[in-house]
Amino acid sequence: MRAHPAGPLHGSITPPTAAGAPPAELGVLDPHVWPRSATRVDGELHLAGRAVTDLVRAHGTPLFVLDEADFRGRAADFATAFADPELGADVHYASKAFLCGQVARWIAEDGLHLDACSGNELALALAAGFPAERIALHGNNKSLVELQLAVDSGIGHVVLDSFDEIDRLAPLAAARVAAGGDPVSVLIRATVGIEAHTHEFIATAHEDQKFGFSLATGDALTAAVRVIREPALHLAGLHSHIGSQIFDTAGFEAAAHRVVGLLGQIHQATGELLGELNLGGGFGIAYLADDDPVSPTDVATRLRTVVAAECAALGLPVPRLAVEPGRAIAGPGTVTLYEIGTIKPVRLGAGGGPGTPAVRNYVSVDGGMSDNIRTALYDADYTCVLANRVSDAPPALCRVVGKHCESGDVLVRDLWLPSDVAPGDLLAVAATGAYCWSMASNYNYLLKPPVVAVRDGVATEIVRRQTLSDVFALDAVLADAPAPSPAPDQPAPEHAAGARS
Ligand code: LLP
Repeated sequence: MRAHPAGPLHGSITPPTAAGAPPAELGVLDPHVWPRSATRVDGELHLAGRAVTDLVRAHGTPLFVLDEADFRGRAADFATAFADPELGADVHYASKAFLCGQVARWIAEDGLHLDACSGNELALALAAGFPAERIALHGNNKSLVELQLAVDSGIGHVVLDSFDEIDRLAPLAAARVAAGGDPVSVLIRATVGIEAHTHEFIATAHEDQKFGFSLATGDALTAAVRVIREPALHLAGLHSHIGSQIFDTAGFEAAAHRVVGLLGQIHQATGELLGELNLGGGFGIAYLADDDPVSPTDVATRLRTVVAAECAALGLPVPRLAVEPGRAIAGPGTVTLYEIGTIKPVRLGAGGGPGTPAVRNYVSVDGGMSDNIRTALYDADYTCVLANRVSDAPPALCRVVGKHCESGDVLVRDLWLPSDVAPGDLLAVAATGAYCWSMASNYNYLLKPPVVAVRDGVATEIVRRQTLSDVFALDAVLADAPAPSPAPDQPAPEHAAGARS
């Protein structure tokens, strides 16, 4: 077992090595890590032209603040980097990173495609008016109902993940064709056997896992042949996704090499030349100043070069490329604001020297693993700053923790904060736009925070704060019981979705 169920730190106090030596200056906003608009004005953090104290006064804490120009700018960077005047290329936003109606509309307006990985993500995108033909549906266990929605709404591609799914989709597609509709366009998801250099739980293209058709066993080729023989299905191309939060392009290049090899095998076996190659997402972002992500332009150049070379070697025409960045679009532009509630100094066994202080402060904030599970789940690293002011107090070793009844409820494992941080101060955690709100839970009946998008000084609540009434409504006994409003752990006032400040 990797960690005790109560968290990796249960029962022992770990040495403060991960924090390194204290930096020369605290509270610096490294442009690598913070939203493009982040700046300090008179010491206070401003995002897209708004002071954090102002946002918190209007919307409460915990609060996800999304810099709209950052989000859309990163989407545009991918679209520009992959644009290919001859062949075209599609950038699919991997909506699992963070999806709501407003995000679906931005992605639609900005001309990108959208990757949905459940029927409900698909339904949300359609409800927001996202053009169906620009949506691809993923998933290793799509239900009949999900597939029917995909077929009826006329989405761009269903990404086939298993033989069972081919059996399930074929009759639905045949019914559409019999009714005068088009065949259903599909991709085959190939598992290419690459060990991505990332956390084991988020690497997806090694053999011993649930996704896709194995290339090594020949399943991917068998699936392709079967689909090609199915008149109501149109095999448009191949798909491969090797994992997430990857910095090294070698894994993508190796995957491209193998998947182009599969294009060649399919051509040999059936005479079919498939026109599309979707190389998935997984492009890493900087959570810490030392992280060194590859730019969209470099990723595009490398992928294009390797695909062109592999195709030339096999005498195949170069297919149209597609990619599916999620984190790299949604992650960096959002921060989470929390209010500090309590601070508990804990004596460390060893310590006293530089970089090994004798005390660690447990700084508790008003959210936690229910709004960011990534530290507890993946040992993810985050950084944060004192947001409402700067301080020249000396650095203190801190661990930022949530308010859940669990010792593994850690947000930022080790960092230096000014020693005078106090209850009532605001902390901003960087790069929380991907897989935080989207993986949020109601553990301990904490309520999901709102997401406020800020652009040119105007803040719009694109997802409102969940209320206790929302949660009571699901409960057989409490559905009609009056819920205290605001909930005991939530600030007033509450906003309707769409409210501006
Ligand atoms: N395409 C496919 C088929 C995927 O499975 C994923 C992510 C993506 C694209 C987007 O990957 P991205 O560009 O966002 O790395 N919850 C984990 C990440 C799980 C990723 C699942 N699939 C985390 O918090 O790190």
